[in-house]
This record gives sequence, structure tokens and C-alpha cells, in this order.
Amino acid sequence: MTSGSIPFAFKLSVAANHFPTRRAPLHSLKFQCLPKSSPSRSLFTTRASFSSSSAPAMVKAIRVHGIGGPEVLKWEEVEVGEPKEGEIRVKNKAIGVNFIDVYFRKGVYKAAALPFTPGMEAVGVVTAVGPGLTGRQVGDVVGYAGMPMGSYSQEQILPASAAVPVPPSIDYSVAASVLLKGMTAHMLLRRVFKVEAGHTILVHAAAGGVGSLLCQWGKALGATVIGTVSTEQKAAQAIEDGCDHVIISTKEDFAAKVNKITEGKGVDVVYDSIGKDTFKGSLSTLKSRGYMVSFGQSSGVPDPLPVSELASKSLFLTRPSLMAYTATRDELLQAAGELFTNIASGILRVRVNHTYPLSEAARAHADLEARKTSGSIVLIPDN
Ligand SMILES: NC(=O)c1ccc[n+]([C@@H]2O[C@H](COP(=O)([O-])OP(=O)(O)OC[C@H]3O[C@@H](n4cnc5c(N)ncnc54)[C@H](OP(=O)(O)O)[C@@H]3O)[C@@H](O)[C@H]2O)c1
Repeated sequence: MTSGSIPFAFKLSVAANHFPTRRAPLHSLKFQCLPKSSPSRSLFTTRASFSSSSAPAMVKAIRVHGIGGPEVLKWEEVEVGEPKEGEIRVKNKAIGVNFIDVYFRKGVYKAAALPFTPGMEAVGVVTAVGPGLTGRQVGDVVGYAGMPMGSYSQEQILPASAAVPVPPSIDYSVAASVLLKGMTAHMLLRRVFKVEAGHTILVHAAAGGVGSLLCQWGKALGATVIGTVSTEQKAAQAIEDGCDHVIISTKEDFAAKVNKITEGKGVDVVYDSIGKDTFKGSLSTLKSRGYMVSFGQSSGVPDPLPVSELASKSLFLTRPSLMAYTATRDELLQAAGELFTNIASGILRVRVNHTYPLSEAARAHADLEARKTSGSIVLIPDN
């Protein structure tokens, strides 16, 4: 059975008392995609506020005072404060590192203000809930991926609507390493271009955090998967993750190799996260009416492209962002639910290949940028 045909078994429920303890079996979770106007959603704002009494006002976090290299990531004390209406305070247990954190640190994407706390993915335990909020309780285990930025912290304030319950069978580190990357894979394979049996897909950085999940999920959907990586070691991982063909792009011209593998036919879709170094080559690997999905720029922003260059093969070009595909609560719950279902069923194996103390986030960034990592990177808050 492919993941595409799996019934949507888990619907994340936001109603009070629907959050199980971590010992409850995964299949007992009730995930519901609730419409914005549904009565259950209004439970969020109908009960009296609750906050744990003696929460410390100050916690340690990584702060960025000026954009630059990994050295600008400073370990400092910050004030967390109390959650306001619609908010929760979460003590982070594990924090996912994503390439987008590097973009913000370097100024490729602009943070709203300096100083800022980076990070867009974490799993933790709710320590306080804002006034009027009933959908969450102190002690709930929740995860989030995306905005607001600020997960590189022992504790943080989040809008309750950004948090999803984490199935009790899924370890903190696994969940924190997979929410953003896994929902991105869901967006790319299930929504941006719907991969089906018979398709041939090209995945760059196939051993990376998102890449590893794309290969496994794409293979489960019945596609022929071609992956690019930089080393033999990463090639071995990509094959384990379902790649039918792996190209070591530091040794051979990936576009020429794809042409050879597909006997000149080209691929249906390219998932290109590398950007500057691969963009043009990726376009050349597509078949007529193929999809160029440019979803990242690990090597730099691609050069501008005249639209007319798409004409000869009538290509589609898109630059999707996870934020746009999880903009509504329903979309967020759908993506997280499908992801957790695929982890529970074994379709996706999450590779938490690197763990660092939160205080050493700079080392994690340096390794990620130097292409030394594979799979996911997780930061564990220091006590
Ligand atoms: N659009 C969205 O919503 C969205 C969401 C999540 C992630 N993303 C993008 O997805 C990509 C993957 O993110 P990730 O967190 O999972 O990172 P990752 O893929 O684990 O790490 C980046 C990998 O890119 C490859 N790479 C090639 N050229 C590179 C260069 N010049 N510098 C650094 N790396 C280079 C390396 O793999 P090799 O050594 O094998 O070449 C490296 O390990 C990123 O571009 C990120 O921005 C986009």
C-alpha cells in the first residue's frame, strides 16, 4: 500500500481533554481537522485561564544581535513572560535545526528585528496557558513548525493555533526533527506535484533532512527516485531510503547522468533545494511539461530566469513555501496527521543523525553549512 492510499487515520483534535498521556497507544489518538468556525475551535476562548505558578521568568536561549556566521549565535538569558490570550508557554524538550535558520542568521531572509531568537521547530511540554484558552492544558506535549521564530530557547511562547499534539509513541527528538521537514515533504509530494506510480522524480540533497524523507515517501508512492548527494557515504544512505539511482554530484554531471538514466526522456518533477548551483541543470533534466519545484537555496539564490526559457518544453515552475501550504489550521493538521501516520506505519524512517546541546547551536550550523550532516539535526536544551 502506498502512503497516498492510506486512509487519514489520525485527525488532530483541539478540543479539551482530547490530549492523551504519552503512554496512550498511537492508534487511539483522535485527530480532527476542525473548520475555523467549528464550535470545538471556539473552546479555545471560553474557559478561564490557567498557568503553572512558579515558572521562572528567565530562561537561556540562543540570540542573534547581528547577522553573520555561526559565531553570531550567542547563549544568553532571556525573559519568556506569561502567555496572553490564545497563547501557550512551552518548555522545549527537543528543537529541530533547519536550513532556514541559516538563511535568517545570514540575512538571506530578514528577521523582523534584532536581536532575535532563531529556530522554527520544536517539541515540548506546555507549562502555562493564556487566559480563556481551553484547548490546551499544562502537561500537554505539543510540536510546532514554522512561524513564530524563536524555538532555540529553553522555553517559548506560542500561539496555541500553531501547536499540534504529538502522538505519544513518537519520541521528542524524532518529532522535533521531522515536523517541519516532513510537512515540507508532504507539501512537495502530495500538493505541489502529486507523485504517483510511474513518475520519475529527481531529489537533490537526497541524504539531507528533507531529502531523506522525500526519497522514502516518493518511493512508497510508487515513483522511480533519482537522488543527488556529495559523498559515497551519503549515497549509501540515499539507497537505503529508496533511491533507485544515486548520482554523486561532486564526481559527475548530474544532468547528463539523469539524461542517461531516463534514456533521454527526462523526469516528471525535480525537487531542487540547492538553488544556485543546480537550478539550470535541474531545468534541463525535465521532460516536456515537467515540474520544476525550486524549494530552497542551500548553495545560494538561483540566477534570474527569463520566463521564455520555459517555453521550449512548456515547463511549470513553482517556488513553494511551507507557510503558504499550512496557512489554515485544517491544512496544518492534515499535513501533520499524514506525516505522523506514515511514521507510525513505518513508511517513513526518521533519521536523527546529529544531536547537539542547544548552547552549541553554532557548531550545528557550521556542520550543516559545511555539508557534513545527513538526515536531521536536533538541539537538546541544556538544563
Ligand atoms: N520551501 C520550504 O518551505 C522549505 C521547507 C523546509 C526546507 N526547505 C529547504 O530544503 C532544503 C533542505 O533543508 P534541510 O534543513 O533538510 O537541509 P539539508 O538538506 O539537510 O542540508 C543541506 C544539504 O544541501 C546540500 N548542499 C549542496 N550544496 C550545498 C552548499 N553549497 N551548502 C550547503 N549545503 C549544500 C548538502 O548535501 P550534499 O552534501 O549531499 O550535497 C547539504 O547536506 C533547504 O534548502 C531548505 O531551505 C524549504
